Amino acid sequence: MGVQKLDRNFFQRLFGICATRKPSQQEGWKVAGRKISIDLNAMPELKDNGSAVRIEGKDIEEPVLVVHGDDGAYHAFRNRCTHGKRALDPVPGTSTVQCCSVGTSTFNYDGSLIEGPAKGPLAVYEVDRAGESLTITL
Ligand code: FES
Repeated sequence: MGVQKLDRNFFQRLFGICATRKPSQQEGWKVAGRKISIDLNAMPELKDNGSAVRIEGKDIEEPVLVVHGDDGAYHAFRNRCTHGKRALDPVPGTSTVQCCSVGTSTFNYDGSLIEGPAKGPLAVYEVDRAGESLTITL
């Protein structure tokens, strides 16, 4: 039995259009050196288990995918598939993240590859929670 696929249409897969959005409130996150701070009170995208947000720009070298996992914990990944560098999305209810491209490489929260043409594991970043603040160390 294969892994569960996120419901995306052919063109979304072909052009690598991911489902995960950028933050709607810019004040919800900031960068200092190699640390990203997220204020969960200003990040509605991470409210529910299985939700996620794309963090890009603001002097970050690589895009980051932040997931509020099915396990209730927060997880952060380098948001580039190790096959063709496309972005990833969580697949709610499966504790996995999946490439948005046609190959749908799928990874565990620890970054290990479950299925797909990806060449290796995803880079996983440490996430520390203190109250309503997350700190991601790149
Ligand atoms: S870029 Fe991710 S599977 Fe091809």
